Amino acid sequence: MTRLGLSVHDVLTTTRSVRKRLDFDRSVDDNLLRECLDYTVQAPTGSNSQGWRFVVVTDPEKKAGLGELYRRGWEQYAGMSASALSLAGGEDSERATQQMRVMQSAAYLAENMHRVPAMVIPCLPGRINQSGFGATSSLASIIPSTWSFMLAARERGLGTCWTTIHLLFEEEAAELLHIPYEEVSQVALITVGHTLGTDFKPASRDGGAAAVTSWNTWD
Ligand SMILES: Cc1cc2nc3c(=O)[nH]c(=O)nc-3n(C[C@H](O)[C@H](O)[C@H](O)COP(=O)(O)O)c2cc1C
Repeated sequence: MTRLGLSVHDVLTTTRSVRKRLDFDRSVDDNLLRECLDYTVQAPTGSNSQGWRFVVVTDPEKKAGLGELYRRGWEQYAGMSASALSLAGGEDSERATQQMRVMQSAAYLAENMHRVPAMVIPCLPGRINQSGFGATSSLASIIPSTWSFMLAARERGLGTCWTTIHLLFEEEAAELLHIPYEEVSQVALITVGHTLGTDFKPASRDGGAAAVTSWNTWD
């Protein structure tokens, strides 16, 4: 089975960050990854620049190397987040509980990163050291295409998670994968694997879209 037959509505509302429900023991067929990657190049890019590149990692040694970098990054990040969480707890405990669940799930992924069946690293040309117009144009020329990949994956029974922690050691990851660091920026590391079960729920977001949308003027 390579398609779940989900509606557009279901794909758009149930594509979650999958960590604990990833099947680490089932490999992902290269052709299934190719099918999902085909959607990436249908996304928009600034000035139709099409500078996107995707590095797919399935080699166990390379995954182990990236897993090690990720775990090192996680240790740094988890320490910072723990203090942020204790602050958040005082203000809104429901939100803090949700964050705690995310942290536990993220810790599980960090421990098991090397077991993830496939990793996809979206890249864009140049180093991201601009601000404003330049930076947003660069990033927005790779993020929609990567999200298309993740949506297509969901419809095929694959779970993904957008991760960025390995970027704390981006140069080392570049060396491992022979990515020319000075000329190419890695934007994320998308973990990919078959999901354990295929039923996922819409997320609970504070107030929904209405709470974060203004019409015609900010206030
Ligand atoms: C820019 C960005 C960076 C993220 N980095 C990580 C990460 O390094 N590790 C991780 O486990 N999840 C990461 N996530 C996933 C978020 O934690 C997740 O989207 C959030 O908790 C909401 O959960 P949901 O995607 O299931 O709705 C990242 C998401 C985004 C958009």
